[in-house]
Amino acid sequence: MRVVVVGQGYVGLPLAMAAVAAGFDVVGYDLDIAKVKALADGESFTVDVPSHVVAAALAAGRYVATDDRAAIEGFDVAGDHRADAARRRRS
Ligand SMILES: NC(=O)c1ccc[n+]([C@@H]2O[C@H](COP(=O)([O-])OP(=O)(O)OC[C@H]3O[C@@H](n4cnc5c(N)ncnc54)[C@H](O)[C@@H]3O)[C@@H](O)[C@H]2O)c1
Repeated sequence: MRVVVVGQGYVGLPLAMAAVAAGFDVVGYDLDIAKVKALADGESFTVDVPSHVVAAALAAGRYVATDDRAAIEGFDVAGDHRADAARRRRS
């Protein structure tokens, strides 16, 4: 089962790691290139998901972090966890 999680923020990343732990192959898609690069290097940005969890998911071949839209074509389940415009205006 191929899972796509759009938005790898404070909601999307924990969800992506939970899906990996449940045995799914997960693509984490985000427009933030710096965040994607850090995640692809096994570096988390939140204490909710330790970096070693991301690194293990990468090493297992169960998780890919990407900003490549083509990489999210063809999925069984997708979750949309982008920050909405109203929330971004408040922050
Ligand atoms: N964090 C919470 O406690 C919480 C609680 C309830 C609801 N929410 C909602 O969940 C959503 C995500 O919240 P969050 O805290 O994870 O936000 P966040 O800002 O931590 O992460 C959102 C991510 O979405 C990415 N993004 C924005 N537009 C995108 C796009 N078009 N394609 C791909 N990625 C995109 C951003 O780069 C960012 O990494 C928001 O809509 C928020 O309102 C969050």
